Amino acid sequence: MQCLKVRSQPQLTIKPFLKWAGGKRWLVSKHDAIFPKEYKRYFEPFLGSGAIFFSLAPSRAYLSDVNANLIEVYTAVRDDWRAVWNRLLWHSRHHNKEHYYGTRASKPGTAASRAAKFIYLNRTCFNGLYRVNRKGIFNVPKGTKNSVIFPDDSFEKIANLLRSAQIVCSDFEESIDKTGIGDFIYIDPPYTVKHNMNNFIKYNELLFSWEDQERLATAATKASKRGALVLISNADSKYIKRLYSNDEWNHIVLSRHSIIASAACKRQTTTELAIANYNLCKSQQNTALFQ
Ligand SMILES: C[S@@+](CC[C@H](N)C(=O)[O-])C[C@H]1O[C@@H](n2cnc3c(N)ncnc32)[C@H](O)[C@@H]1O
Repeated sequence: MQCLKVRSQPQLTIKPFLKWAGGKRWLVSKHDAIFPKEYKRYFEPFLGSGAIFFSLAPSRAYLSDVNANLIEVYTAVRDDWRAVWNRLLWHSRHHNKEHYYGTRASKPGTAASRAAKFIYLNRTCFNGLYRVNRKGIFNVPKGTKNSVIFPDDSFEKIANLLRSAQIVCSDFEESIDKTGIGDFIYIDPPYTVKHNMNNFIKYNELLFSWEDQERLATAATKASKRGALVLISNADSKYIKRLYSNDEWNHIVLSRHSIIASAACKRQTTTELAIANYNLCKSQQNTALFQ
């Protein structure tokens, strides 16, 4: 397959309005060239904070995630951003420890209030984590950040962009199976690595098992054979490389600085894999490793 014409300038049009574990803002700002410039429809089956969607701002999109609460936030912002925004301003005016825990325990009756609650907690909880207990109730404690509203918030722009998207709560396989010739799928699953002894990965394994990784590789390969453009982010691991080792796939290793959650002052360099069924251009390969 020939090297695709790529965008010359990063297009950080809209910043994601949520903080999300594994968020990909860095990928598009540092490695814009790995994204195809032309495609029919854009698919993002592991939406999270949608960093790539907001950056590419595609004219037709299919966005999905298995997290029903998250998906409700996107649909509420799309359908009535003003109601969500007004409620968020209200949270901002009342923000303190008592308000945080009171809101966390509350059960708002409208989609807009539930969305504002989600965004408020996301912006003020510990490390922007999303964690629920066995009953599905969000249980992250208050964090140190107190900004509920940001100067560059633009829920109107976000709603306008979301209006061109289908937003669905589903497992990734259902979404990937809908793709066809000329569609572009950006796939960013939770990073699970087989046989890894690290506790964080073990915790992740409960959410996304190795069997899920295998199921994903099968769905992505089928989409590739149907003629979709596929780009996958995943852990830089020999097991993942092995999963995508047939002729269908090209790999590059991308490195980035990350902050260790338990010690915000300590920085470490981590590597990730980008796997695609099109050429990740030579120029990009030469600049892929950066400090
Ligand atoms: C690494 S995050 C995606 C981050 C996103 N790229 C961003 O920029 O914020 C992975 C997402 O996959 C979702 N997820 C986990 N298991 C899933 C499944 N089986 N099907 C669809 N989504 C799933 C999680 O809810 C989470 O939002």
